[in-house]
Amino acid sequence: MTATTLLTNIGELTTHDVERPLRHDAALVLEGSRIAWVGDAADAPAADTVVDAGGRAVIPGFVDSHSHLVFAGDRSEEFAARMAGESYAAGGIRTTVAATRAATDEQLTAHVARLVAEMVRQGTTTVEIKSGYGLSVHDEARSLAVARQFTDETTFLGAHVVPAGTDPEAYVELVTGPMLEACAPHASWVDAFCEEGAFDVDQARTVLAAGAAAGLRGRLHANQLSYGGGVRLAAELGLTAVDHCTFLTDDDVAALADSGTVATLLPGVEFSTRQPYPDARRLLAAGVTVALASDCNPGSCFTSSVPLCIALAVREMGMTPTEAVWAATAGGARALDREDVGVLTAGARADLLLLDAPSHLHLAYRPGVPLVAGVWQGGRPV
Ligand code: NIG
Ligand code: FE
Repeated sequence: MTATTLLTNIGELTTHDVERPLRHDAALVLEGSRIAWVGDAADAPAADTVVDAGGRAVIPGFVDSHSHLVFAGDRSEEFAARMAGESYAAGGIRTTVAATRAATDEQLTAHVARLVAEMVRQGTTTVEIKSGYGLSVHDEARSLAVARQFTDETTFLGAHVVPAGTDPEAYVELVTGPMLEACAPHASWVDAFCEEGAFDVDQARTVLAAGAAAGLRGRLHANQLSYGGGVRLAAELGLTAVDHCTFLTDDDVAALADSGTVATLLPGVEFSTRQPYPDARRLLAAGVTVALASDCNPGSCFTSSVPLCIALAVREMGMTPTEAVWAATAGGARALDREDVGVLTAGARADLLLLDAPSHLHLAYRPGVPLVAGVWQGGRPV
């Protein structure tokens, strides 16, 4: 028999069940890695272990669907220069590429382990991790092999920027040929940075098509720094998610609403680059599914904190606290095409957070306060 845990006396339980997204005076039973039962505390069945939530709130673990954790080096001086008036440029990525290539596998693995642990402490129970700081066949493949030790949601981002001194067309051929072949066994997704200074729409289309032919599902970085065709390409191809979405025309918004492609907003980037924030309200009003993620990376945004992203989305992007918590959990799950996370319903993965607060509203109401008091990942307290 699998051991069961009853988590009871939950003052407010965010389930994201369509029928009943919020419950009060609730309880949950965890059995192995799954949720076996959800209901009123008064009706809770017996279990091997009982945990008293003390009337506090429980929510699904955060699903951080966009991060770049495999890197070495530090760009804090680039950040300081931005805060003194410089603007963000994609070219900074090459600084991290040099440091990443110089690091050993052990150093990269230890660094990712430290960042993942930092994320888990703040409530992230599912994380997507991209390559993109190797940009050679060997360094992209080993970046993904390192990432795979921590998550199944690994993304091949060989098309992050063109490495210094390389012809762009020759580089796209490398990415879609030998690099893809070496990387596909370690990856679930393919991504490209579709932006001026990185890859144009045609190049992104070529990379996504090659990735799809190798069995990888597509996602895209688009419309981060300027208007462009990336978001429309993502919608046209019916990608699972398109990320950043800061500069959108009405046609872009309509295309997202029609395609069902999730718009993943990354407010830590705008915080750390002093760019304008994306307009989540406009997307929600048009019926677009919105996810929130950290984009944790050494350049445009070195935060691993989803609670910070929730607070920023509420304060700066027109989301309600309830929408922002949904976007950082169930929304992230949609952005990764996952049905087993981001919800707390019978059968879902037992990934959940006990908050040191009476309600999920406090995540935005008390910005900067470490409210995650307990984390269960796959049914186990961590
Ligand atoms: O998602 N936009 C492209 N890639 C990262 C930034 C990478 C970097 O600056 O190192 C992003 O913001
Ligand atoms: Fe990114």
